[in-house]
Amino acid sequence: MTVETKSPSAGIFAPENSEQREELIELLKKGYWMEIETVMSYTANSINPDGVRAQEIVEHLEEDIRDELGHAQQFGRRIKELYGVVPGSLEFSAEQSYLQPPEQQTDVVHVIRGVIEAESGAIEHYQRIIDFCDDLDLVTQDMVIDIQRDEQRHKRLFEGFLREYEAEGRA
Ligand SMILES: [Fe+2]
Ligand SMILES: [Fe+2]
Repeated sequence: MTVETKSPSAGIFAPENSEQREELIELLKKGYWMEIETVMSYTANSINPDGVRAQEIVEHLEEDIRDELGHAQQFGRRIKELYGVVPGSLEFSAEQSYLQPPEQQTDVVHVIRGVIEAESGAIEHYQRIIDFCDDLDLVTQDMVIDIQRDEQRHKRLFEGFLREYEAEGRA
């Protein structure tokens, strides 16, 4: 009687996968910068808004800042575990044009739309990492799936806010 056992795949630390490991580190660095920029944008947009109606949005952004900073730290730690180096600030380049302060600080809809765009971009990039990690690095994949779920929750919440504003004819 023969017992068939599946041999394990080599994994991300195998010498033959060093090129893929480098590629994965670059994907993780991009995720790291996306989180850092989101922390900057959400900080500004949690302070700038004026008006009673903005308070709910401000409170949720304040909560999300903590989540996004935690995500940046997770990406950074995983970069190190993969023998990469977490980049310094001079390597940063900003991309979130849609999360710049609005003309009027009572324009909460602008902020809501910006948050939805940032979260959608993160979800898309993290899906790329999840797919890349298939059969290669399930530890990174598991981490990024958890992070992606947070972003889906953030996006869903702000979609709800937008729906409310649309229903009232304010968006
Ligand atoms: Fe995040
Ligand atoms: Fe998020």
